[in-house]
Amino acid sequence: KGCKLVGCGSAIPSIQISNDNLSEIVDTSDEWISVRTGIKNRSILSRQDSLTALATEAAQKALQMAEVEPNDVDLVLLCTSTPEDLFGSAPQIQKALGCGNNPLAYDITAACSGFLLGLVSAACYIRGGGFNNVLVIGADALSRYVDWKDRGSCILFGDAAGAVLLQSCDSEEDGLFAFDMHSDGEGQRHLKASMKEDKTDSELGTNGSLLGLLPKGSSSYSCIEMNGKEVFRFAVRVVPHSIELALEKAGLAVSDIDWLVLHQANQRIIDAVATRLEVPQERVISNLANYGNTSAASIPLALDEAVRSGKVRAGDTIATAGFGAGLTWGSAIVRW
Ligand code: ACO
Repeated sequence: KGCKLVGCGSAIPSIQISNDNLSEIVDTSDEWISVRTGIKNRSILSRQDSLTALATEAAQKALQMAEVEPNDVDLVLLCTSTPEDLFGSAPQIQKALGCGNNPLAYDITAACSGFLLGLVSAACYIRGGGFNNVLVIGADALSRYVDWKDRGSCILFGDAAGAVLLQSCDSEEDGLFAFDMHSDGEGQRHLKASMKEDKTDSELGTNGSLLGLLPKGSSSYSCIEMNGKEVFRFAVRVVPHSIELALEKAGLAVSDIDWLVLHQANQRIIDAVATRLEVPQERVISNLANYGNTSAASIPLALDEAVRSGKVRAGDTIATAGFGAGLTWGSAIVRW
């Protein structure tokens, strides 16, 4: 059994923040951000907006493109590190979409590599049998975990949602040629948002009692802490190698790639990977300038824009790669 990509969609929140806007809150400039990252604008969820609703909108667009009814979806994978429920938001999306017939829905957490892991997981479900239409959604609102006083990181991130529909097909039509996935907990210290307790024992009145020994029941997560230079070096080192491995498994060469669609983290990372692989600029998809790093959403958002603008066409071969916190990274060679 094979699987193929049959639809994509994306959604972005309404608040636009330009580099000039950011320079009003931290000591930075449009020039610094543009030169070091390639980012010009990003969209941010308002305090009232819901990431789950944004993810649902992206999924609806993917279903419409594929001309598949929500009732026929049998698995919803929400790739996110910022769910609105600690126990996962995917079932809420399943409900909002109106997926019937007892589908399965759950979250996958792997930061900026999340979408790729979701795609590979979806393919494994379909190839294993019993699943025909799988929605893979990448959605993140890292703005909720950004330290807006840290100019080294707050300039990078934006919020968005993107989705693809993967469908079962005959093996000769298979559209996921090969993949390569990795993680390395050793590098976690370079990029993290760790759990913390919000209140002290004296605030909670639990000093000296048994309750003082128990978890405080007021946990949340700290803001993103990042060593940008280390993350940059990591990405430029592992991504080209991972794509080469996936190409080798697929029996393809770099010259067979029509499009390179990388996780959109920094234009200098995208350029460095393309140069290492000798992929010409005109075959590299980049929309980072408009949205910043949207974590798990960035790959399906870039793909969706490229498909809807007519750049990526049916039958094109795409090399895609994600990398980020964990540390996690990987790549896949797919046919649109
Ligand atoms: N505006 C102006 N100056 C700044 C800013 C800013 N926004 N940020 C940092 N600087 C200053 C620094 O203080 C430093 O000043 P100093 O030389 O006086 O000490 C100088 O600029 C250079 O700082 P570096 O951190 O060395 O700058 P670098 O060229 O490494 O760029 C950046 C920083 C853009 C963060 C880069 O390292 C990067 O993009 N790294 C990858 C990060 C990334 O992609 N993270 C997400 C991964 S995906 C995920 O899973 C979430």
